[in-house]
Amino acid sequence: MTTNETRRAILEALADGPVSGPELAESLDVSRAAIWKQIDGLRDAGFEIESGPTGYELVAVTAYTGPTVEYGLEAPFSVEYHDSVGSTNARARELATEGAADVAVLADEQTGGRGRLERAWSAPSGGVWVSVLTRPEITPAQAPLYTLAASVAMARAIREAGVDARIKWPNDVVIPVGEDGDYRKIAGILTEMEGETDRVEWIAVGMGINANIDAESLPEGATTIRDEAGDVDRRLFVQRVLEEFDAYRNDLESVVPAWRDLALTLGQRVRIDRAAGDIVGEAVDVTASGALVIDTDEGEQIVSAGDCEHLRPV
Ligand code: BTN
Repeated sequence: MTTNETRRAILEALADGPVSGPELAESLDVSRAAIWKQIDGLRDAGFEIESGPTGYELVAVTAYTGPTVEYGLEAPFSVEYHDSVGSTNARARELATEGAADVAVLADEQTGGRGRLERAWSAPSGGVWVSVLTRPEITPAQAPLYTLAASVAMARAIREAGVDARIKWPNDVVIPVGEDGDYRKIAGILTEMEGETDRVEWIAVGMGINANIDAESLPEGATTIRDEAGDVDRRLFVQRVLEEFDAYRNDLESVVPAWRDLALTLGQRVRIDRAAGDIVGEAVDVTASGALVIDTDEGEQIVSAGDCEHLRPV
């Protein structure tokens, strides 16, 4: 058994109540000293394990670490945690070149967080900064669905935390302010991938959620879960994000309907800023691949990418 397997087996045994060291050693067929060492390792990783008269007891899991996020996670990702890292997306890219798959890179703080369109992304300690690296069997044309799946996953987890999160096309998660389509941004996504024209080799979906942070310390126009509803248990929160993301990526057909249900952009007057020129009109729908359908003075137009601005009604 590897160290990880032994630790997992110990946690499984502890889930059903206290177990003594000798019992663990016997059932896992390792020495008592090995059990003692692994229990120490688990404590270091943030598992609160007490030793009482009936044996070891797992009393709480409150820390935010790789092993604690993996514990109880109902999605097939291993978790690589960093207290501080430049960018979880950059780290995911590095892991991709080493051949890794199904890894969630998680950080408490990013010192060089990256946003869309070459923008910087402010990522202080207390947020949920995570990049999921996978090797899906999809075409590059389907990749935007992965990004939409991530925005639905984040919005649903934020809603479970008691905040009225909605999605602004294509994939910003925002909190509406008033009735005119105004909002404050609470989460964003940066997807990076590599592949050929007909095959994705790997995709890294980077999700940034302003969780336990004061909005004051973020750029203008941002809000946080703390400001809207109070702090979340980040371990349970990121587990929900990863589980929802996993469910939607495995059922790509359900992504657009779920996205539509949460969209703030539909029914809005919008301006899409594109290299090929601006489009102004009313956003009326999204297509099966996630492109925005806009009712303009020149008829219906479909845009698959661009910066979207919500305009005041005329
Ligand atoms: C945006 O709205 O512009 C996208 C922001 C994406 C931020 C996340 S945080 C985790 C991951 N690592 C990064 O460097 N960026 C993404």
